[in-house]
Amino acid sequence: MSLKSMSKKINLTLKVWRQDSKNSKGRFETYDANGVDTDMSFLEMLDVVNEKLTKEGKDPIAFDHDCREGICGMCSAVINGQAHGPLPGTTVCQLHMRNYKDGETLVIEPWRAKAFPVIKDLVVDRSSFDRIMQAGGFVSIKTGSAPEAHTLPVPKKDSELAMDAAQCIGCGACVAACPNGSAMLFVAAKVSHLSLVPQGQVEAETRVLNMVAKMDQEGFGNCSNEYECEAACPKEISVTNIARMNREYRRASAKNPK
Ligand code: SF4
Ligand code: FES
Repeated sequence: MSLKSMSKKINLTLKVWRQDSKNSKGRFETYDANGVDTDMSFLEMLDVVNEKLTKEGKDPIAFDHDCREGICGMCSAVINGQAHGPLPGTTVCQLHMRNYKDGETLVIEPWRAKAFPVIKDLVVDRSSFDRIMQAGGFVSIKTGSAPEAHTLPVPKKDSELAMDAAQCIGCGACVAACPNGSAMLFVAAKVSHLSLVPQGQVEAETRVLNMVAKMDQEGFGNCSNEYECEAACPKEISVTNIARMNREYRRASAKNPK
């Protein structure tokens, strides 16, 4: 069977959150999405709906996107109550319409969290993540040019864990999925990927203290071990990073009492 013959056309009903601006009251609006090709991505489906809305002289649905390859972390939507939709380890830009059945109704909402105010429709302001990164998510030591690899050995286990944590794309699905609106998985991923390698250990204490303080200041909630963040994460970042961050935080607090 050729790939072409496997694609189908389906009809869907979309209930989409529309909100004109940060301070305006939002509401759900219903749209028919007819003849959706199952080979389309979710965002391509929204593009087609928007084309129709534009031709009708209506305001298209605002949604965030950039790479559409699952790497930039821009796309964000809660579909039928699940951040990034139903597929594990998948961003909404990589979600395809073949995962839906003809006649289904999809409820599409923005990330909902105090620290991510809605800008318009499905677009939220995630600059709180940038400010957390500015508080410590970097190394400021002079590393010079790339050293010969064997001069700075990193245990295989640590390099693997650091690379796993570095996969976080900063999308914010963990916050949207958490009943407390906690950013612990995001912050823990950033703290881990830096502190697990020697270059990041120099500033490890100030980093974890400053990033956690900024996270609290930005209005994110606390972690109560729901594991919803890990389930929603398109990069399948493990909650073990949160445990590592908590250990680092306790150690750093003990050594740097207020
Ligand atoms: S931890 Fe996962 S869900 Fe959270 S920001 Fe990073 S990639 Fe997105
Ligand atoms: S648009 Fe870049 S990750 Fe989805």
